[in-house]
Amino acid sequence: MTLTSDTAPANPNDAGYGTFTIGGFTFSRDEYFATITWPTGTHQLAIDVFLRALQRDVAWGFFYGIVNFDSVFGTVNHYGNVDMFAGRFNDAYRRAEVDYSENFTHDDLMACFQSMLKDWTNDGYDPFAAPQETGQPFGKNNGSNDAAVTRRRVVADRMVSVPGDEQVRTDDMGFPVNRGFADVPQDEPIVEVEPGYEGDVAAYNLFKYISRSDVTWNPSVVSACKESLYCPTSEEFILPVIHGNDRVEWFVQLSDEIQWDVEDRDTGAKRARVICKAGDVAAMPADIRHQGYSPKRSMLLVWENASNRIPEMIARGEISPRAVDF
Ligand code: PHB
Ligand code: FE
Repeated sequence: MTLTSDTAPANPNDAGYGTFTIGGFTFSRDEYFATITWPTGTHQLAIDVFLRALQRDVAWGFFYGIVNFDSVFGTVNHYGNVDMFAGRFNDAYRRAEVDYSENFTHDDLMACFQSMLKDWTNDGYDPFAAPQETGQPFGKNNGSNDAAVTRRRVVADRMVSVPGDEQVRTDDMGFPVNRGFADVPQDEPIVEVEPGYEGDVAAYNLFKYISRSDVTWNPSVVSACKESLYCPTSEEFILPVIHGNDRVEWFVQLSDEIQWDVEDRDTGAKRARVICKAGDVAAMPADIRHQGYSPKRSMLLVWENASNRIPEMIARGEISPRAVDF
């Protein structure tokens, strides 16, 4: 494999979009592609792939660990500062010594990504939506969709539906049941509480809640027990990022099916293919990266531990990168 950086691909940038430079990286877009240049190389991603990944990286505040947009480009979250890289987790780029990485403050890189997302998203295109449920991202600059790209994740303070949670969202709140979940019962559980416990005991129909999600691949925290977070999400088509985790992460497949490609986190070498059917539970190790494929809209519960001590505990060998050592 030869990787050259001396001739940048022709990118006349005549489609009316802004060009963004931060540190040694420059981003430009034309009608079909995002082009990224850095001191030792250039790279292109289809604009739909790029915008879906960019939207997640922005909405998740760079997430846990590594967000690979594809096998070349992405970010590593150090919680306060962020590495942006090209080829760093790609064996061929590493061997050819053309990989590149630069550190930015969270706020500087976030501001750059937010501006790019706003400028490059056209009217009628929602990078959070399943491809069949939104318009096309391609073509010349045509307006914007700020309402979609600045959407905030719903985060519970307690369990959703318990009094005191600011984000109670158990009624339909104007969100229709998604076409993929037309068969999901919408009745709420009946709760009979002992006197004195009215503010503490609650239940709601989580399936109803997820069935009305208008976004895909965007976990929202619905319960918090210390640092243990339940983050259900509705999935359709492909997880827009290849996530390199820095901690163990549990997947509870609540409905339908997701197929996971699991690779070595650093080299991208294939490690496993995991087929999760409704009811299956998988614990993803902390030294892999994964991408999910959901052929039909499905419900997934992502269970995370948000403790910021975990990455260093794994690095020091105090805890295993696997949930279970057989
Ligand atoms: C993950 O990387 O673990 C992940 C991200 C978003 C989802 C599901 C899983 O919607
Ligand atoms: Fe993950």
